[in-house]
Amino acid sequence: MSTESGGQESGAATAGSQLNAATAAANLLGSYFVSTYPPFSQWTASELPAYRSALAAPRAGRAAPFGLYVHIPFCVERCQYCYYLAVDGAPQDIVASYLDALLAETALYSRAPALLERRVGFAYFGGGTPSLLTANQIEELFAGLRQRSDWSQIEEISFECAPRTSTRKRLAALHAAGVNRLSMGVQQLDDQVLERSGRVHRVDDVERAWGRIRETGFDNVNLDLMVGMHGETETSFFRSLERVIEWAPESVTLYQLEIPLNTPLSRDVRGGNVEELASWEAKHERLAAAFERLESAGYTVRSGYTAVRDPNCHGFQYQEAQYAGADLVGLGAASFSYLGGVHHQNLATVPAYLQAHRDQRLPLGRAHRLSRDEQLVREMILQLKLGAADMSRLERKHGIAPERVFAAQLQQLEAEGWLQVTDRTATLSREGLVRVDELLPRFYALRHRDVRYS
Ligand SMILES: C[S@@+](CC[C@H](N)C(=O)[O-])C[C@H]1O[C@@H](n2cnc3c(N)ncnc32)[C@H](O)[C@@H]1O
Ligand code: SF4
Repeated sequence: MSTESGGQESGAATAGSQLNAATAAANLLGSYFVSTYPPFSQWTASELPAYRSALAAPRAGRAAPFGLYVHIPFCVERCQYCYYLAVDGAPQDIVASYLDALLAETALYSRAPALLERRVGFAYFGGGTPSLLTANQIEELFAGLRQRSDWSQIEEISFECAPRTSTRKRLAALHAAGVNRLSMGVQQLDDQVLERSGRVHRVDDVERAWGRIRETGFDNVNLDLMVGMHGETETSFFRSLERVIEWAPESVTLYQLEIPLNTPLSRDVRGGNVEELASWEAKHERLAAAFERLESAGYTVRSGYTAVRDPNCHGFQYQEAQYAGADLVGLGAASFSYLGGVHHQNLATVPAYLQAHRDQRLPLGRAHRLSRDEQLVREMILQLKLGAADMSRLERKHGIAPERVFAAQLQQLEAEGWLQVTDRTATLSREGLVRVDELLPRFYALRHRDVRYS
Protein backbone atom coordinates (compact mmCIF):
# COMPACT_ATOMS: atom_id res chain seq x y z
CA MET A 1 0.00 0.00 0.00
CA SER A 2 1.24 3.52 -0.56
CA THR A 3 0.11 6.91 0.60
CA GLU A 4 0.20 8.18 -2.95
CA SER A 5 -3.06 6.26 -3.30
CA GLY A 6 -2.23 4.72 -6.61
CA GLY A 7 -2.11 7.98 -8.52
CA GLN A 8 -5.84 8.41 -8.26
CA GLU A 9 -5.65 12.15 -8.48
CA SER A 10 -3.55 12.09 -11.63
CA GLY A 11 -5.82 9.36 -13.01
CA ALA A 12 -8.96 11.46 -12.81
CA ALA A 13 -10.64 10.73 -16.13
CA THR A 14 -14.02 12.02 -17.17
CA ALA A 15 -16.57 10.71 -14.71
CA GLY A 16 -18.00 7.36 -15.71
CA SER A 17 -15.47 6.79 -18.47
CA GLN A 18 -13.31 3.70 -18.91
CA LEU A 19 -9.60 3.96 -19.38
CA ASN A 20 -8.50 1.75 -22.20
CA ALA A 21 -4.82 2.21 -22.92
CA ALA A 22 -2.32 0.29 -20.82
CA THR A 23 -0.52 3.54 -20.04
CA ALA A 24 -3.71 5.02 -18.62
CA ALA A 25 -4.38 1.81 -16.72
CA ALA A 26 -0.93 2.13 -15.15
CA ASN A 27 -2.26 5.20 -13.31
CA LEU A 28 -4.48 2.82 -11.39
CA LEU A 29 -1.56 0.91 -9.91
CA GLY A 30 -0.64 1.23 -6.26
CA SER A 31 -2.43 1.07 -2.96
CA TYR A 32 -5.54 2.94 -1.96
CA PHE A 33 -7.04 1.61 1.28
CA VAL A 34 -5.69 3.32 4.40
CA SER A 35 -5.86 0.91 7.32
CA THR A 36 -3.85 2.80 9.88
CA TYR A 37 -1.40 5.61 10.63
CA PRO A 38 1.55 6.13 10.45
CA PRO A 39 2.03 4.01 7.29
CA PHE A 40 3.45 0.51 7.80
CA SER A 41 6.68 1.48 6.04
CA GLN A 42 7.49 3.65 9.07
CA TRP A 43 7.41 0.73 11.51
CA THR A 44 10.82 -0.80 12.19
CA ALA A 45 12.43 -3.77 13.93
CA SER A 46 14.50 -1.26 15.91
CA GLU A 47 11.31 -0.08 17.65
CA LEU A 48 10.39 -3.55 18.91
CA PRO A 49 11.53 -2.64 22.45
CA ALA A 50 8.59 -0.19 22.57
CA TYR A 51 6.17 -3.07 21.93
CA ARG A 52 7.95 -5.27 24.49
CA SER A 53 7.60 -2.44 27.05
CA ALA A 54 3.89 -2.07 26.24
CA LEU A 55 3.45 -5.80 26.86
CA ALA A 56 5.44 -5.65 30.09
CA ALA A 57 3.52 -2.71 31.57
CA PRO A 58 0.55 -3.80 33.68
CA ARG A 59 -2.53 -1.94 32.45
CA ALA A 60 -3.39 0.76 34.96
CA GLY A 61 -6.94 2.00 35.58
CA ARG A 62 -9.76 1.33 33.18
CA ALA A 63 -8.30 -0.54 30.24
CA ALA A 64 -9.37 0.19 26.66
CA PRO A 65 -11.62 -2.40 24.96
CA PHE A 66 -9.58 -5.38 23.86
CA GLY A 67 -9.84 -7.75 20.91
CA LEU A 68 -8.02 -10.40 18.92
CA TYR A 69 -7.29 -10.67 15.20
CA VAL A 70 -6.39 -14.17 13.99
CA HIS A 71 -4.84 -14.49 10.54
CA ILE A 72 -5.37 -17.70 8.56
CA PRO A 73 -3.02 -17.33 5.58
CA PHE A 74 -4.22 -20.11 3.27
CA CYS A 75 -6.16 -19.97 0.00
CA VAL A 76 -7.03 -22.48 -2.70
CA GLU A 77 -5.48 -20.20 -5.34
CA ARG A 78 -4.34 -16.60 -5.38
CA CYS A 79 -6.79 -14.12 -6.91
CA GLN A 80 -5.31 -11.76 -9.50
CA TYR A 81 -5.82 -8.62 -7.44
CA CYS A 82 -4.96 -9.94 -3.98
CA TYR A 83 -2.15 -8.57 -1.82
CA TYR A 84 -2.93 -10.33 1.45
CA LEU A 85 -0.50 -12.84 2.89
CA ALA A 86 -1.77 -16.23 1.73
CA VAL A 87 -0.14 -19.56 0.86
CA ASP A 88 -1.74 -21.34 -2.11
CA GLY A 89 -3.18 -24.79 -1.65
CA ALA A 90 -3.20 -25.04 2.16
CA PRO A 91 -0.70 -27.95 2.54
CA GLN A 92 -2.04 -29.89 5.54
CA ASP A 93 1.32 -30.31 7.35
CA ILE A 94 1.87 -26.54 7.25
CA VAL A 95 -1.71 -25.81 8.33
CA ALA A 96 -1.32 -28.15 11.32
CA SER A 97 1.98 -26.54 12.41
CA TYR A 98 0.46 -23.12 11.90
CA LEU A 99 -2.51 -23.88 14.15
CA ASP A 100 -0.14 -25.16 16.86
CA ALA A 101 1.86 -21.98 16.52
CA LEU A 102 -1.28 -19.81 16.88
CA LEU A 103 -2.13 -21.47 20.19
CA ALA A 104 1.46 -21.24 21.44
CA GLU A 105 1.49 -17.54 20.54
CA THR A 106 -1.77 -17.02 22.46
CA ALA A 107 -0.25 -18.74 25.51
CA LEU A 108 2.85 -16.51 25.36
CA TYR A 109 0.64 -13.42 25.18
CA SER A 110 -1.52 -14.58 28.08
CA ARG A 111 1.53 -14.23 30.39
CA ALA A 112 2.25 -10.63 29.38
CA PRO A 113 1.53 -8.25 32.31
CA ALA A 114 -0.39 -5.88 30.01
CA LEU A 115 -2.82 -8.65 29.09
CA LEU A 116 -3.26 -10.39 32.43
CA GLU A 117 -6.94 -10.46 33.29
CA ARG A 118 -7.87 -8.68 30.05
CA ARG A 119 -11.12 -10.07 28.73
CA VAL A 120 -11.46 -10.49 24.99
CA GLY A 121 -14.39 -8.33 23.84
CA PHE A 122 -14.24 -9.18 20.13
CA ALA A 123 -12.36 -11.50 17.81
CA TYR A 124 -11.90 -11.46 14.05
CA PHE A 125 -10.68 -14.38 11.94
CA GLY A 126 -9.39 -13.09 8.61
CA GLY A 127 -7.36 -14.34 5.72
CA GLY A 128 -6.53 -15.75 3.42
CA THR A 129 -9.51 -18.02 3.59
CA PRO A 130 -10.26 -19.05 7.20
CA SER A 131 -13.07 -21.32 5.96
CA LEU A 132 -10.41 -23.59 4.43
CA LEU A 133 -9.90 -25.00 7.94
CA THR A 134 -11.72 -28.29 8.44
CA ALA A 135 -14.55 -28.60 10.97
CA ASN A 136 -12.17 -30.41 13.36
CA GLN A 137 -9.51 -27.76 12.99
CA ILE A 138 -12.12 -25.05 13.67
CA GLU A 139 -13.28 -26.83 16.83
CA GLU A 140 -9.73 -27.32 18.11
CA LEU A 141 -8.67 -23.78 17.30
CA PHE A 142 -11.61 -22.20 19.11
CA ALA A 143 -11.31 -24.54 22.10
CA GLY A 144 -7.57 -23.79 22.31
CA LEU A 145 -8.05 -20.04 22.11
CA ARG A 146 -10.78 -20.11 24.77
CA GLN A 147 -8.47 -22.10 27.08
CA ARG A 148 -5.62 -19.63 26.70
CA SER A 149 -7.48 -16.30 26.83
CA ASP A 150 -10.58 -15.09 28.66
CA TRP A 151 -13.53 -15.19 26.26
CA SER A 152 -16.15 -15.13 29.03
CA GLN A 153 -17.43 -11.70 28.01
CA ILE A 154 -16.88 -11.83 24.27
CA GLU A 155 -19.56 -9.99 22.30
CA GLU A 156 -18.59 -10.39 18.66
CA ILE A 157 -16.82 -13.23 16.85
CA SER A 158 -16.39 -12.55 13.11
CA PHE A 159 -15.16 -15.12 10.62
CA GLU A 160 -14.33 -14.67 6.92
CA CYS A 161 -15.43 -17.41 4.58
CA ALA A 162 -15.42 -18.16 0.87
CA PRO A 163 -18.34 -19.76 -1.00
CA ARG A 164 -16.93 -23.18 -1.90
CA THR A 165 -15.46 -23.88 1.52
CA SER A 166 -18.63 -22.82 3.36
CA THR A 167 -19.80 -26.43 3.68
CA ARG A 168 -22.55 -27.53 6.05
CA LYS A 169 -20.06 -29.24 8.34
CA ARG A 170 -17.76 -26.23 8.64
CA LEU A 171 -20.66 -23.81 9.07
CA ALA A 172 -22.11 -25.98 11.84
CA ALA A 173 -18.70 -26.02 13.56
CA LEU A 174 -18.46 -22.24 13.31
CA HIS A 175 -21.96 -21.75 14.67
CA ALA A 176 -21.27 -24.12 17.57
CA ALA A 177 -17.98 -22.31 18.24
CA GLY A 178 -19.90 -19.06 18.81
CA VAL A 179 -19.25 -17.21 15.55
CA ASN A 180 -21.97 -14.54 15.41
CA ARG A 181 -20.86 -12.51 12.39
CA LEU A 182 -20.00 -14.32 9.20
CA SER A 183 -18.47 -12.50 6.24
CA MET A 184 -18.44 -14.09 2.80
CA GLY A 185 -16.35 -12.88 -0.14
CA VAL A 186 -18.73 -12.78 -3.10
CA GLN A 187 -17.03 -9.97 -5.07
CA GLN A 188 -19.40 -10.16 -8.06
CA LEU A 189 -22.16 -12.42 -9.33
CA ASP A 190 -20.93 -12.84 -12.89
CA ASP A 191 -18.99 -15.93 -13.92
CA GLN A 192 -16.87 -14.16 -16.53
CA VAL A 193 -15.76 -11.46 -14.12
CA LEU A 194 -15.02 -14.03 -11.42
CA GLU A 195 -13.01 -16.16 -13.82
CA ARG A 196 -10.96 -13.24 -15.08
CA SER A 197 -9.94 -12.37 -11.53
CA GLY A 198 -8.86 -15.91 -10.80
CA ARG A 199 -11.61 -16.51 -8.25
CA VAL A 200 -12.17 -20.20 -7.62
CA HIS A 201 -15.92 -19.83 -7.04
CA ARG A 202 -18.77 -19.24 -9.50
CA VAL A 203 -22.24 -17.73 -9.10
CA ASP A 204 -23.90 -21.06 -8.34
CA ASP A 205 -21.37 -21.70 -5.54
CA VAL A 206 -22.45 -18.45 -3.91
CA GLU A 207 -26.14 -19.32 -4.27
CA ARG A 208 -25.64 -22.68 -2.59
CA ALA A 209 -23.40 -21.25 0.15
CA TRP A 210 -25.95 -18.55 0.90
CA GLY A 211 -28.66 -21.17 1.41
CA ARG A 212 -26.43 -23.21 3.73
CA ILE A 213 -25.44 -20.15 5.76
CA ARG A 214 -29.06 -19.22 6.50
CA GLU A 215 -30.05 -22.85 7.12
CA THR A 216 -27.25 -23.15 9.67
CA GLY A 217 -28.81 -20.24 11.57
CA PHE A 218 -26.40 -17.36 11.00
CA ASP A 219 -28.41 -14.17 11.43
CA ASN A 220 -25.65 -11.62 11.05
CA VAL A 221 -24.00 -12.06 7.68
CA ASN A 222 -21.90 -9.65 5.66
CA LEU A 223 -21.33 -10.08 1.94
CA ASP A 224 -18.26 -8.48 0.32
CA LEU A 225 -18.57 -7.10 -3.21
CA MET A 226 -15.85 -5.40 -5.21
CA VAL A 227 -16.28 -2.31 -7.40
CA GLY A 228 -14.24 -2.00 -10.59
CA MET A 229 -13.14 -5.60 -11.09
CA HIS A 230 -11.37 -6.58 -14.28
CA GLY A 231 -14.08 -7.19 -16.88
CA GLU A 232 -16.82 -5.59 -14.77
CA THR A 233 -19.50 -3.52 -16.50
CA GLU A 234 -22.26 -1.32 -15.06
CA THR A 235 -24.60 -4.17 -15.88
CA SER A 236 -22.58 -6.94 -14.22
CA PHE A 237 -22.02 -4.85 -11.11
CA PHE A 238 -25.60 -3.67 -10.58
CA ARG A 239 -27.05 -7.07 -11.46
CA SER A 240 -24.82 -8.51 -8.71
CA LEU A 241 -25.97 -5.85 -6.27
CA GLU A 242 -29.66 -6.52 -7.03
CA ARG A 243 -29.18 -10.22 -6.35
CA VAL A 244 -27.45 -9.46 -3.06
CA ILE A 245 -30.27 -7.09 -2.05
CA GLU A 246 -32.79 -9.88 -2.78
CA TRP A 247 -30.95 -12.10 -0.29
CA ALA A 248 -31.08 -9.28 2.32
CA PRO A 249 -27.83 -9.90 4.18
CA GLU A 250 -27.45 -7.87 7.38
CA SER A 251 -24.52 -6.00 5.90
CA VAL A 252 -22.98 -5.38 2.46
CA THR A 253 -19.37 -4.25 2.12
CA LEU A 254 -18.15 -2.73 -1.13
CA TYR A 255 -14.42 -2.43 -1.75
CA GLN A 256 -13.13 -0.41 -4.69
CA LEU A 257 -10.52 -2.43 -6.56
CA GLU A 258 -7.00 -1.40 -5.71
CA ILE A 259 -4.05 -2.88 -7.55
CA PRO A 260 -1.01 -2.89 -5.28
CA LEU A 261 2.29 -3.44 -7.03
CA ASN A 262 2.83 -6.93 -5.62
CA THR A 263 -0.29 -8.41 -7.24
CA PRO A 264 -0.47 -10.60 -10.39
CA LEU A 265 -2.97 -8.08 -11.85
CA SER A 266 -0.45 -5.29 -11.48
CA ARG A 267 2.10 -7.30 -13.49
CA ASP A 268 -0.53 -7.88 -16.19
CA VAL A 269 -1.38 -4.18 -16.32
CA ARG A 270 2.29 -3.25 -16.64
CA GLY A 271 2.71 -5.86 -19.36
CA GLY A 272 -0.13 -4.25 -21.33
CA ASN A 273 -2.28 -7.38 -20.99
CA VAL A 274 -5.31 -5.73 -19.40
CA GLU A 275 -7.64 -3.99 -21.77
CA GLU A 276 -10.22 -2.28 -19.64
CA LEU A 277 -10.27 -1.12 -16.07
CA ALA A 278 -12.59 1.42 -14.49
CA SER A 279 -10.93 4.73 -13.57
CA TRP A 280 -10.95 5.83 -9.94
CA GLU A 281 -13.63 8.39 -10.74
CA ALA A 282 -15.79 5.67 -12.30
CA LYS A 283 -15.31 3.48 -9.22
CA HIS A 284 -16.23 6.33 -6.86
CA GLU A 285 -19.36 7.02 -8.90
CA ARG A 286 -20.34 3.37 -9.01
CA LEU A 287 -19.92 3.08 -5.25
CA ALA A 288 -22.02 6.20 -4.67
CA ALA A 289 -24.78 4.78 -6.90
CA ALA A 290 -24.57 1.45 -5.05
CA PHE A 291 -24.96 3.19 -1.69
CA GLU A 292 -28.00 5.05 -3.05
CA ARG A 293 -29.54 1.81 -4.24
CA LEU A 294 -28.86 0.13 -0.89
CA GLU A 295 -30.46 3.07 0.93
CA SER A 296 -33.55 2.81 -1.25
CA ALA A 297 -33.73 -0.86 -0.21
CA GLY A 298 -33.70 0.15 3.48
CA TYR A 299 -29.98 -0.09 4.28
CA THR A 300 -28.02 2.58 6.18
CA VAL A 301 -24.52 3.58 5.10
CA ARG A 302 -22.19 3.08 8.06
CA SER A 303 -18.75 3.79 6.60
CA GLY A 304 -17.01 4.42 3.32
CA TYR A 305 -17.45 0.71 2.55
CA THR A 306 -20.42 -0.73 4.36
CA ALA A 307 -24.21 -0.50 4.43
CA VAL A 308 -26.19 -2.30 7.14
CA ARG A 309 -29.84 -3.31 7.35
CA ASP A 310 -30.30 -2.27 10.98
CA PRO A 311 -27.70 0.08 12.46
CA ASN A 312 -28.92 -0.72 16.00
CA CYS A 313 -28.31 -4.45 15.64
CA HIS A 314 -25.69 -4.87 12.96
CA GLY A 315 -22.68 -2.97 14.22
CA PHE A 316 -19.17 -4.16 13.50
CA GLN A 317 -17.36 -3.98 16.78
CA TYR A 318 -14.01 -5.16 15.46
CA GLN A 319 -13.87 -2.15 13.18
CA GLU A 320 -15.61 0.39 15.38
CA ALA A 321 -13.55 -0.43 18.49
CA GLN A 322 -10.30 -0.44 16.54
CA TYR A 323 -11.09 2.85 14.87
CA ALA A 324 -11.74 4.36 18.32
CA GLY A 325 -8.33 3.27 19.67
CA ALA A 326 -9.06 -0.17 21.20
CA ASP A 327 -6.20 -2.50 22.08
CA LEU A 328 -5.84 -5.35 19.63
CA VAL A 329 -3.51 -8.33 19.58
CA GLY A 330 -2.91 -9.86 16.16
CA LEU A 331 -2.10 -13.57 16.11
CA GLY A 332 -0.55 -15.30 13.12
CA ALA A 333 1.87 -14.39 10.35
CA ALA A 334 1.89 -10.70 9.35
CA SER A 335 -0.88 -9.80 11.83
CA PHE A 336 -1.13 -6.31 13.27
CA SER A 337 -1.46 -5.36 16.92
CA TYR A 338 -2.07 -2.03 18.66
CA LEU A 339 -1.34 -1.93 22.35
CA GLY A 340 -1.00 1.06 24.67
CA GLY A 341 -0.27 3.41 21.77
CA VAL A 342 2.26 1.11 20.05
CA HIS A 343 1.79 -0.49 16.63
CA HIS A 344 3.23 -3.91 15.97
CA GLN A 345 3.31 -6.35 13.04
CA ASN A 346 4.27 -10.01 13.35
CA LEU A 347 6.91 -11.59 11.12
CA ALA A 348 5.35 -11.43 7.69
CA THR A 349 6.00 -14.86 6.15
CA VAL A 350 4.69 -18.24 7.23
CA PRO A 351 8.19 -19.87 7.43
CA ALA A 352 9.53 -17.03 9.63
CA TYR A 353 6.43 -17.22 11.81
CA LEU A 354 6.79 -21.00 12.24
CA GLN A 355 10.51 -20.65 13.05
CA ALA A 356 9.66 -18.25 15.90
CA HIS A 357 7.24 -20.89 17.17
CA ARG A 358 9.96 -23.56 17.09
CA ASP A 359 12.22 -21.15 19.00
CA GLN A 360 9.43 -20.64 21.56
CA ARG A 361 9.42 -16.87 21.16
CA LEU A 362 6.86 -14.31 20.05
CA PRO A 363 7.07 -13.76 16.27
CA LEU A 364 7.87 -10.06 16.60
CA GLY A 365 8.47 -8.24 13.31
CA ARG A 366 8.32 -4.45 13.40
CA ALA A 367 6.83 -1.78 15.63
CA HIS A 368 6.21 1.91 16.06
CA ARG A 369 5.41 3.91 19.20
CA LEU A 370 2.97 6.68 18.28
CA SER A 371 3.60 10.18 19.58
CA ARG A 372 0.63 12.03 21.05
CA ASP A 373 0.19 13.88 17.76
CA GLU A 374 0.32 10.64 15.75
CA GLN A 375 -2.34 9.10 17.98
CA LEU A 376 -4.61 12.04 17.22
CA VAL A 377 -4.02 11.79 13.46
CA ARG A 378 -4.64 8.04 13.59
CA GLU A 379 -7.95 8.36 15.37
CA MET A 380 -9.08 11.35 13.32
CA ILE A 381 -8.58 9.54 10.01
CA LEU A 382 -10.03 6.25 11.22
CA GLN A 383 -13.14 8.08 12.46
CA LEU A 384 -13.49 9.79 9.08
CA LYS A 385 -13.51 6.34 7.44
CA LEU A 386 -16.73 5.82 9.41
CA GLY A 387 -18.10 9.06 7.96
CA ALA A 388 -17.65 11.58 10.78
CA ALA A 389 -15.19 12.63 13.49
CA ASP A 390 -16.51 14.04 16.77
CA MET A 391 -13.82 16.57 17.58
CA SER A 392 -15.07 17.27 21.13
CA ARG A 393 -14.55 13.60 21.98
CA LEU A 394 -11.13 13.58 20.33
CA GLU A 395 -10.09 16.66 22.30
CA ARG A 396 -11.25 15.11 25.59
CA LYS A 397 -9.28 11.97 24.82
CA HIS A 398 -6.10 13.42 23.32
CA GLY A 399 -5.96 16.82 25.03
CA ILE A 400 -5.56 18.64 21.70
CA ALA A 401 -8.29 20.39 19.69
CA PRO A 402 -8.34 18.73 16.24
CA GLU A 403 -9.62 21.97 14.66
CA ARG A 404 -6.37 23.67 15.65
CA VAL A 405 -4.12 20.88 14.37
CA PHE A 406 -6.07 20.29 11.15
CA ALA A 407 -7.33 23.84 10.45
CA ALA A 408 -5.88 23.97 6.91
CA GLN A 409 -7.04 20.47 5.94
CA LEU A 410 -10.60 20.99 7.22
CA GLN A 411 -10.88 24.34 5.47
CA GLN A 412 -9.60 22.92 2.19
CA LEU A 413 -11.82 19.83 2.32
CA GLU A 414 -14.85 22.01 3.10
CA ALA A 415 -14.03 24.34 0.22
CA GLU A 416 -13.79 21.34 -2.12
CA GLY A 417 -17.14 20.01 -0.95
CA TRP A 418 -15.87 16.76 0.58
CA LEU A 419 -16.66 17.60 4.20
CA GLN A 420 -18.62 19.88 6.52
CA VAL A 421 -17.94 20.92 10.11
CA THR A 422 -20.98 21.50 12.32
CA ASP A 423 -21.06 21.52 16.13
CA ARG A 424 -17.46 20.32 16.29
CA THR A 425 -18.22 17.28 14.15
CA ALA A 426 -16.46 16.87 10.79
CA THR A 427 -18.84 14.94 8.50
CA LEU A 428 -17.91 13.76 5.03
CA SER A 429 -20.34 14.43 2.20
CA ARG A 430 -21.34 11.33 0.23
CA GLU A 431 -18.88 12.39 -2.50
CA GLY A 432 -16.19 12.68 0.18
CA LEU A 433 -17.09 9.34 1.75
CA VAL A 434 -16.72 7.33 -1.47
CA ARG A 435 -13.17 8.69 -1.94
CA VAL A 436 -12.25 8.89 1.75
CA ASP A 437 -9.00 6.93 1.45
CA GLU A 438 -7.83 9.33 -1.26
CA LEU A 439 -8.40 12.32 1.08
CA LEU A 440 -6.92 10.96 4.32
CA PRO A 441 -3.20 11.40 3.51
CA ARG A 442 -3.80 15.14 3.74
CA PHE A 443 -4.04 14.70 7.52
CA TYR A 444 -0.65 13.00 7.72
CA ALA A 445 2.39 14.76 9.16
CA LEU A 446 4.47 16.12 6.27
CA ARG A 447 7.21 13.52 6.82
CA HIS A 448 4.69 10.75 6.13
CA ARG A 449 2.99 12.14 3.03
CA ASP A 450 5.26 10.86 0.34
CA VAL A 451 6.44 7.63 1.85
CA ARG A 452 5.49 4.14 0.68
CA TYR A 453 2.45 2.80 2.53
CA SER A 454 3.83 -0.63 3.43
C1 LIG B 1 -8.75 -10.82 2.61
S1 LIG B 1 -10.20 -10.99 1.76
C2 LIG B 1 -10.83 -12.32 2.70
C3 LIG B 1 -12.05 -13.03 2.19
C4 LIG B 1 -11.80 -14.21 1.29
N1 LIG B 1 -10.46 -14.60 1.23
C5 LIG B 1 -12.28 -13.85 -0.09
O1 LIG B 1 -11.51 -13.26 -0.83
O2 LIG B 1 -13.41 -14.18 -0.40
C6 LIG B 1 -11.26 -9.68 2.31
C7 LIG B 1 -11.86 -8.87 1.22
O3 LIG B 1 -10.91 -7.96 0.72
C8 LIG B 1 -11.34 -7.53 -0.54
N2 LIG B 1 -10.16 -7.38 -1.39
C9 LIG B 1 -9.16 -8.26 -1.56
N3 LIG B 1 -8.25 -7.75 -2.43
C10 LIG B 1 -8.69 -6.53 -2.82
C11 LIG B 1 -8.22 -5.51 -3.70
N4 LIG B 1 -7.08 -5.64 -4.38
N5 LIG B 1 -8.96 -4.37 -3.85
C12 LIG B 1 -10.12 -4.22 -3.16
N6 LIG B 1 -10.61 -5.13 -2.31
C13 LIG B 1 -9.91 -6.28 -2.14
C14 LIG B 1 -12.32 -8.56 -1.06
O4 LIG B 1 -13.62 -8.00 -1.17
C15 LIG B 1 -12.31 -9.62 0.01
O5 LIG B 1 -13.56 -10.20 0.22
S1 SF4 C 1 -8.91 -12.33 -2.26
FE1 SF4 C 1 -9.34 -13.80 -0.63
S2 SF4 C 1 -9.44 -15.80 -1.69
FE2 SF4 C 1 -8.44 -14.41 -3.09
S3 SF4 C 1 -6.25 -14.78 -2.72
FE3 SF4 C 1 -6.90 -13.00 -1.47
S4 SF4 C 1 -7.39 -13.80 0.50
FE4 SF4 C 1 -7.33 -15.54 -0.96
